[in-house]
Amino acid sequence: MHQKITARSLTCACGGNLQLMQPLSVAPEALRQSLQDATPDKRQRGMWRYEALLPVAAKWRSHLQVGATPLLDLGEIQGIKLWLKDETRNPSGSLKDRASELVLALAAAFDIDEVVMASTGNAAASLAAIGAAQKTRVTVLVPRDIPVAKLAQIQAFGAEVHRIDGPYAAACKVAGDLAQARGALNRTTGLNPFTREGKKTCALEIAQQMNWQSPDWLVVPTGDGNILSAMAKGFADLKACGILQRVPRLLAVQTAAATTIAQSFDSSLQGGAPETCADSINVPDPMDLQAAVQALHHTDGQAVVVNDAEISEAVIQMASRFGVFLEPSSAAGYAGFEKLQQQGFFAAGEQVVLLGTGTGLKDLRVAIAAAESQTQPCLHPDDWQSLATPTAPFQEH
Ligand SMILES: Cc1ncc(COP(=O)(O)O)c(C=O)c1O
Repeated sequence: MHQKITARSLTCACGGNLQLMQPLSVAPEALRQSLQDATPDKRQRGMWRYEALLPVAAKWRSHLQVGATPLLDLGEIQGIKLWLKDETRNPSGSLKDRASELVLALAAAFDIDEVVMASTGNAAASLAAIGAAQKTRVTVLVPRDIPVAKLAQIQAFGAEVHRIDGPYAAACKVAGDLAQARGALNRTTGLNPFTREGKKTCALEIAQQMNWQSPDWLVVPTGDGNILSAMAKGFADLKACGILQRVPRLLAVQTAAATTIAQSFDSSLQGGAPETCADSINVPDPMDLQAAVQALHHTDGQAVVVNDAEISEAVIQMASRFGVFLEPSSAAGYAGFEKLQQQGFFAAGEQVVLLGTGTGLKDLRVAIAAAESQTQPCLHPDDWQSLATPTAPFQEH
């Protein structure tokens, strides 16, 4: 059985990612009841409360609670109702925990003792965290320019980590070769269809938190395109079960340094930036390209490209306006929302959900640059009275 799910056999002959199609084991009414069951035991299971829609049994889950993250009501912005699905509350601080949790449960179920992957950082950190919890050996390959906090996090969780002298694509190539050589399971996003199954639980939670309704738009920061296609899959599963009448339109937000998915969907979109502060979505050669573009077409979606100035502003705005600190790649979603909102793209009364995919604590560079530009000289304790009157009135952003 082990041999059947090694790296090579998980990938389509064309090299692309596969889509898992599993028959439902329960009738729609029983499924609806099982999903809607809100007993404390179900809630504590996090993403595993949706076991009926998952390809691995919940008994293989880790002791970390992945999922059951809050859907924060950010209020109304010029007639648009805005929410944030706060995935920073997951054990390692990103949405990627959902995929790692599922893949490591699969490894436990099939007695696989090593999982290998390439990652821009967050997925590796999540695999390392859940690998520690599951007592499974984890080996990760990361690109040269990984933020130092992500590298430290991976190492603290005890994974074997190697920086590859090149971009993410180079790390992916090494991960494939290494998984093959060691007979390990390859969790690399876009090469393992189980990652999409784990991430789709985020869509299931959003639908449930909105009383089994879809928002009008779901805004997804996009690199490889795996989160995007996973969101589409989750909502499509609920529609296929008869639980939802309609799915949300997906809005893919890409950095101007990596626009392949956006431009494949809409060739008029411009990119061309040589680099970006949003390293997690800096994926010029996305592995889930086909599925991502399909997700945009199937949901009547849209794509938008944002530059580093817009992303940096979005990091600060999300933090100072809403109290949520996101990493640049995650705040890119808000930058895309703002950009389109200013162009009058959304209709009055529309409901928009942003995905807060990763915490800002792991990539502080943008926040540090902003803070340094405002740094004041150190105050002598005897001079505290100079602070008695605020220099500026409190401003609600
Ligand atoms: C914080 C964050 N947001 C968004 C993404 C993009 O996800 P995907 O590569 O599946 O498009 C990533 C991927 O690493 C990420 O870490």
